[in-house]
Amino acid sequence: MKRIPLIAGNWKMHLTIGEAVTLAQEIAKSSQGLEDREVMIAPAATAIAAVAEAVEGSPVLVGGQNVAWEQQGAYTGEISPLMLKDAGATMAIVGHSERRHIFGEDNTMVNQRMIGALASGLTPVLCVGETLDEREEGLTMKVLEVQVCEGLEGIKSDQIGQVVVAYEPVWAIGTGKTASKEQAQEVHRFIRDVLGDLYEKKLAEQIRILYGGSVKPDNVDDLMAMPDIDGALVGGAALQAASFERIIHFS
Ligand code: 13P
Repeated sequence: MKRIPLIAGNWKMHLTIGEAVTLAQEIAKSSQGLEDREVMIAPAATAIAAVAEAVEGSPVLVGGQNVAWEQQGAYTGEISPLMLKDAGATMAIVGHSERRHIFGEDNTMVNQRMIGALASGLTPVLCVGETLDEREEGLTMKVLEVQVCEGLEGIKSDQIGQVVVAYEPVWAIGTGKTASKEQAQEVHRFIRDVLGDLYEKKLAEQIRILYGGSVKPDNVDDLMAMPDIDGALVGGAALQAASFERIIHFS
């Protein structure tokens, strides 16, 4: 089965509602007619509803930047799957390195979020990635294996097809230091092999694995040419229409 490439923009804690709508409208316009790839944008929570309305009728999908595991309750500061869907989102980023490293989310919490998102019919994007220290100590594959296995614990074969994985080496995020296409491919292949051990090989071949970390207009084509890189999770370069549009239109 061919995997449909997915280019996702993570807007992080940027853009007011007005700015977000303007950018979303431009992205919607330049995504018209795209059939061989998918595009997702993840605005700040305050802008999700307005952005979802702005891209309606276009192929652009909207995602949350995080998601809680309960539908409602005493969870100050959290946004539930129900609320994301109500605002027009169909996807959710889970376990982003900034959530893990700045806000202390661990694999157990990430796993709960994954389960909650899937139970509500959202498509979760499970982010994994090693720090520079872990890479230099030769721990990259071990760290990723634990993040993938613990992040997906309890998720059954009939749900795994809905999961997207994003490999984002922490040292490449926002630093301008992209992993080389060979470095990224090696890790993506490894993650697919881990998925193949957890599920069936055939299922693992269907799961999209995105690369994230300083993806830019001038490196996206090389990255996307690698056999196990199925898309990109873009931060900084997703905040300007021109650069994100160039990334969407990778060749
Ligand atoms: P940059 O593209 O700014 O490195 O950010 C990557 C990222 O964290 C996307 O989730």
